[in-house]
Amino acid sequence: MTDRKATLTFDNKTLELPIHSPTVGPDVIDIRKLYAQGDVFTHDPGFTSTSACESTITFIDGDKGELLHRGYPIDQLASKSHYLEVCYLLLYGELPTAAEMEKFENTITRHTMLHEQMTYFYRGFRRDAHPMAIIVGVMGAMSAFYHDSTDISDPRQREIATHRLIAKMPTIVAWAFKYSIGQPFVYPRNDLDYAANFLNMCFSVPAEDYEVSPVLARAMDRIFTLHADHEQNASTSTVRLASSSGANPFACIAAGAACLWGPAHGGANQACLEMLRKIGTVDKIPEYIARAKDKDDPFRLMGFGHRVYKNFDPRAKVMKESADEVLDLLGIHDNPTLQVAKELERQALEDPYFAEKKLFPNVDFYSGIILEAMGFPTSMFTPIFALSRTVGWISQWKEQLSDPAHKIGRPRQLYTGHPFRDYVEVEDRG
Ligand code: SDX
Repeated sequence: MTDRKATLTFDNKTLELPIHSPTVGPDVIDIRKLYAQGDVFTHDPGFTSTSACESTITFIDGDKGELLHRGYPIDQLASKSHYLEVCYLLLYGELPTAAEMEKFENTITRHTMLHEQMTYFYRGFRRDAHPMAIIVGVMGAMSAFYHDSTDISDPRQREIATHRLIAKMPTIVAWAFKYSIGQPFVYPRNDLDYAANFLNMCFSVPAEDYEVSPVLARAMDRIFTLHADHEQNASTSTVRLASSSGANPFACIAAGAACLWGPAHGGANQACLEMLRKIGTVDKIPEYIARAKDKDDPFRLMGFGHRVYKNFDPRAKVMKESADEVLDLLGIHDNPTLQVAKELERQALEDPYFAEKKLFPNVDFYSGIILEAMGFPTSMFTPIFALSRTVGWISQWKEQLSDPAHKIGRPRQLYTGHPFRDYVEVEDRG
């Protein structure tokens, strides 16, 4: 850390605040002592200019449209790596040797089964429950089934909880899907790789053999990789805040999944496909672009815009290529939804409104088209995002716990409510 300082002068006070320089990205002004020294808070609703933690896991350059995991760019990881290797990288900081990868993959493969009693937990939900509602419940319930890995002060238990979450999420998500469509649960198989195992648990049925397409498994694995981690996004920040109170890992990750569900965040993939379907044909696009620009209309282009990216989301570029590849493989030509998506992207990017506000397609713009083509209903889009992001949440959770300086997160506020006033008896009220 350098010894540079920022000088803040107000109300005849002058404060010197340390400036810390990152490996890459903007410098930060350390305001930890601001309240004690200056008796003021900073105010930053939505944390548009606030660094909440120090991290070495993921970096996003929003202007360049670059996403790095431990320094490796997402487009190279998407084309050269695979999801479990990216999990290892996010968790342990380096790409694994062949022996390390084999050991890690064996461990994950042998943690994919769920406690049999959990099947009864699923049966408590209505059949028409949204799979995210089931997943948030089941992930939280893991605290009730895996007591022996909830003590966060024990490194071994933290490691076991980490492996259990990464390994069991495909089973949890697949079973939420099966439950919502009234089909029997399919158990994980140790002879299938991570993505193929998930597809098998989702689409195979006891009545006949099912062969997982290796190309679809590769596309699924790439979607997992593209969603694995993304700095301090809303759901990851939720996990960090929950973890700061000492809550167990399953409760923290369940909190992250609940936050991800929102349409402004991980729920955007479902909202985007529903929007593309609603637009229906390319001739309707101008009407929806006009609505998106209209301040008085709450409609926004789902899958567009991003708090950090002010250029293309690199994940959206890979996803767009993948969409063409998967649809082509499936023999789905002239997919009307993909045609609308591509024309909508073209028209929006040519429109001054989107150019001035630097609004580009994000990771959610094309992902739904691929997932729908693979056979998933829109209700499964966010659960698949949650499955992928579990490693990011747990890596950030692990990093925060290993920071000796970490403390409970407790923001302050700009209070504009009533000052002190005495209670008024009901007979004296107006
Ligand atoms: C994800 O944070 C992450 O990293 C998230 C994520 C991850 O991997 O974890 O990348 C995943 O959540 C991607 C984003 C998915 N959400 C959507 O696609 C929903 C649609 N997009 C927006 O709602 C919005 O762009 C956000 C929520 C993504 C970002 O909102 P910000 O940063 O708070 O920006 P803003 O709402 O202040 O918008 C800035 C301006 C506004 O206009 P002005 O008030 O300045 O005139 O841009 C406009 C907005 O009205 N705007 C849009 C728009 N997004 C922003 N206008 C039309 N359509 C849009 N999609």
